[in-house]
Order: sequence, then structure tokens, then C-alpha cells
Amino acid sequence: MKAGHDVSIVEVGPRDGLQNVATFVETAQKVSLIRRLAASGLKEIQVGAFVSPRAIPQFRDMKEVAAGIIDLPKVRFSALVPNLHGAREAIKSGIEKLIFFFSLSESHNLNNVRQTKEASLKGLELIHKELTAEAPAELCVALATVFGCPFEGCPTTDNILKDVEKIVNMGIREITLCDTVGFGNPAQVEQILVACLRAFPEVAFAVHFHNTRGLGLANALRAYDVGIRRFDSALGGLGGCPFAPGASGNIATEDLAFMFSEMAVPTGIDMEALLIVSGYLKEILPGVILSSAVYQAGLPKTHPSGRSCGSPWVNPPSPSHQEW
Ligand code: COA
Ligand code: ZN
Repeated sequence: MKAGHDVSIVEVGPRDGLQNVATFVETAQKVSLIRRLAASGLKEIQVGAFVSPRAIPQFRDMKEVAAGIIDLPKVRFSALVPNLHGAREAIKSGIEKLIFFFSLSESHNLNNVRQTKEASLKGLELIHKELTAEAPAELCVALATVFGCPFEGCPTTDNILKDVEKIVNMGIREITLCDTVGFGNPAQVEQILVACLRAFPEVAFAVHFHNTRGLGLANALRAYDVGIRRFDSALGGLGGCPFAPGASGNIATEDLAFMFSEMAVPTGIDMEALLIVSGYLKEILPGVILSSAVYQAGLPKTHPSGRSCGSPWVNPPSPSHQEW
């Protein structure tokens, strides 16, 4: 962990957020959104997914999006990949961090990536071998439905540890544990994370919470308390897996960053700049509700940015004249 950045917030809005938006967001707008997010101090941004355009039409322009942001210094760009095909395309596009994803739940995996967990794990092994030979990018894993699945309910901790072990045995050292449809609660989060941290001290675990049932921030705080320092979140609280019934938004980056900033835990994010990016998101998605509480209420008077109360950000100044 770099000094001065006690938690790392990974912005997944351009991926998890946009994959669940029916309207196609123009390539130039995606690029502009990512560049603005980077300018607000976010150090890692998930820019999309190299998946079948039939599965997620929103990402049919991934190569062009990658080309529009790859010049930005000091930001780590990652993308989801479900198989070797996606991994190769991501590497060709200059993505430096691949997040291979599969689900703890067999049913969700079949629904989401149309293959068994065994086939997914074989895919991961193939990517790992190819990357080990050439080392063009880092490989991490996002394990979905760890805290519950709409088809299979809650997994046992034993089953979670078994899947994590398979991933660790392939040499992967960064794993994001995902609450894909917001089943998690703080007691369960603590129990699962403590078990994982104890069993695999060599792994950097991150968490990915959805706020489907309002417990997203509570879960993030409990994860922080047990030692997790990497958190996924999406600008505006957008998000959700189109192949998981009942899925809804991620925890909002504005709310997560605000919580840590009020707790004097550095995130490296400029809250004021971030809220201007939320305004831009609203501009490009006028029909979509941004559920972030901080976006809706604005920063309090006590915040170091000096902004006053009274919902100053409900209609924030348009930043569209600025060059990014
Ligand atoms: N990116 C783009 N195209 C891909 C691809 C990838 N990663 N993987 C496969 N394809 C293409 C194949 O080349 C083939 O193309 P063709 O019909 O023109 O020959 C076609 O997709 C079908 O290939 P197949 O291997 O049979 O895939 P599938 O139809 O069983 O779909 C996935 C499997 C994984 C590609 C698809 O289910 C998918 O992209 N899922 C993404 C789900 C997702 O992103 N969920 C949200 C994140 S939680
Ligand atoms: Zn998600």
C-alpha cells in the first residue's frame, strides 16, 4: 500500500455500471467519463469487459474505448475477461490488468458465461499459462456470488475456501470477493473474510459489494475493520449483472469515498472533483437515477472542500466545456 493511500477504491462504473444500462453510451462519452474519473484522483479504473457483444452490447466498442484512454499516466486500467479470447483482445488493446471472472455458484456461472465452473477454471489456467510465458499483463480474479446467489442461496465458507484455493494454486495473488446481488450482511462478511484472510495470508483480497438491500456500506465498513484495503464501487451507484435476477447497483463511489474521507482514511480522491464527474454521468445518462446519497445531498458544510449544504450538487455545474 502506497503511503498516504490507506484504502484503494477501484472504480467499476464504466464496467459494472454501464453493463446494466440499456442505452448505448457513445465511445467518446465513455472515454471522457474514464478520463474525468482519473482526473478526480482514482488510481484504478475498470474500463469495461472483453465479452461477447451479443451478451453485453454496451461493450462492443471496447477496443476504441481502450485506445482513447491508454495514454493516461499514473492510472491502472483493468478489464473483465471471461475466457482466453477476451484476454487476448484485452492485451492487444493495451489493458495492463485482466480480471478473470467466474461464479462460485454453478448456476450463475452457466447463466452468466454459459459454461461450467470447471470450464471456467480451465480457461483461467490457459490465460495464466499464456501470460506467464509472455507477462504482458497482470492477472487477477473476481469471484462472483460469494455472499449469495439468486439461484442457489448462500454458499458455505468451506465451499468458498475450496474455490479460493483453486485460484491461489494457479498462482493468482489478487482476488476480489463479490456480492453480486447484495445478499451479504456485516456478520457474514466478517466471517467469510476472516476465514479467507487466515487461510490465504499471501493473497490481496478485495471486496465488491452491491447495495441491493441497503447493506453495501455497512458491509464495506466491516470489511475495512477486518483488514481489507481494496474496494470496488461504481460512480452514482450504478451497476448490476444482467444475468443475475434482482441485481441492482454497486455501492456508490461518492458514498464510499465520503465515508472514508470523513473517517480521515485517505483515498487519494478529490471529493469535489468526483462529484463534478457524477454530474457528467447524469448528463450522459439523463434517464438514469444516480442512487448515491452524497451526490443527491451534496457535501456537508463541515467537509474540507468547504461546500455548503442544500443539495448544491443535484444540478452540478456542467463540466463539458473542459478538456480532458
Ligand atoms: N469476446 C468477444 N467475443 C467472444 C468472446 C469474448 N470474450 N468469447 C467468445 N466470443 C465469440 C466467439 O468468437 C463466437 O463468435 P462467432 O459466433 O462469431 O464465431 C461467439 O462469441 C460464441 O462463442 P462461444 O465460445 O460459443 O461463447 P458463448 O456464446 O457460449 O458465450 C461468453 C460465452 C463468455 C463469451 C458470453 O457468455 C459472454 O461474453 N458473457 C459475458 C457475461 C458478462 O459480461 N456478464 C456480466 C459480468 S458479471
Ligand atoms: Zn458487480
